[in-house]
Amino acid sequence: MLVFGLEGSPRKKGNTRFLLSAFMAEAEKRGAETRVVHAHEMPVSPCIECGVCERKGVCSIDDKMQQEIFPLLRRAEVVVLASPVFFYNITAQLKAPVDRSQTLWSCRYRLGLADPLHKTRKGLLLSVGATKGKSLFEGIHLTARYFFDAISAKYAGGLTYFKIEAPDDMEKHPTYRQEIEEMADALINPLMERRKILFAGRENACRSQMAAAFAQYHAGDRIEALTAGSAPAEKVAPGMKEVMAEKGIDMGFRFPRAIDAVVARDKPDTLIAMGCDAAAGEASSPARIDWDLPDPVGQGLDAMRKVRDEIEKKVLALVDSPDG
Ligand SMILES: Cc1cc2nc3c(=O)[nH]c(=O)nc-3n(C[C@H](O)[C@H](O)[C@H](O)COP(=O)(O)O)c2cc1C
Repeated sequence: MLVFGLEGSPRKKGNTRFLLSAFMAEAEKRGAETRVVHAHEMPVSPCIECGVCERKGVCSIDDKMQQEIFPLLRRAEVVVLASPVFFYNITAQLKAPVDRSQTLWSCRYRLGLADPLHKTRKGLLLSVGATKGKSLFEGIHLTARYFFDAISAKYAGGLTYFKIEAPDDMEKHPTYRQEIEEMADALINPLMERRKILFAGRENACRSQMAAAFAQYHAGDRIEALTAGSAPAEKVAPGMKEVMAEKGIDMGFRFPRAIDAVVARDKPDTLIAMGCDAAAGEASSPARIDWDLPDPVGQGLDAMRKVRDEIEKKVLALVDSPDG
């Protein structure tokens, strides 16, 4: 289960990074995988309002947002937005990726597609500011609320700290540690308690991707659905995104992953194999079930639709069974 932190301070040893690292350390203690992007170190271009995302659901700017941040936002089940207050809002460095999330807003609201994790994903705000006025965090809360809505995350609220200015002020704060721990308990623990099912294929480009997405979509509250392949392709199969969009499901920014790394990290309880090598994923010996499904890649969209529907039926039966 991925916890992704997107952080906006330009200070390497500042308060926001300190607070975010403390939260990420708690997430790791509870077994989550964590990734952090510091916006200051991974500059992305601002949105140019070209309108491509509203028509096609993709962004016209090919940069780190496209290559790294969108895929992390899609895979993460907890997203943390962390920023100091600069003029009553997030920093300019962080505003660029937040504005670029308009692509995900467009997928949701213009194209009517649902991200498979839309009912599961949570968003948390961490913020600090130097002063103590009542409205100090109002702007940042609003930005966070609409950012989380765009990325299909339920806003879980924020931990915000007044009178934090010198780089080590946060560290000296008397209650932050307990608050971070309580927030981690509330957000991370229920997600880590779910049953883990790994849907595995050879290339992890089509059937296993669709199966994991259906499991997330129909039962993400009860099941952590992972997906990987024994010989992962570079990209998902052509046509797969289109046939899933016909079911209202958004498969954008999903990439094949290697099975051994996923098994070693996430230790799934059950492995559903569809076309992957016999030995793959057996490192931790999860219970294995084989699904006999034809490979529709290269067989045209109708073949892919048939397999998609078959997969959805199997996933629905699985998630309602004791194995699910
Ligand atoms: C350009 C700039 C704008 C700021 N604007 C505000 C502000 O509007 N309100 C406030 O309380 N603090 C403001 N601050 C102070 C920072 O929020 C504060 O020093 C914070 O602790 C910095 O966090 P960091 O160490 O994570 O960078 C501003 C600081 C800078 C450099």
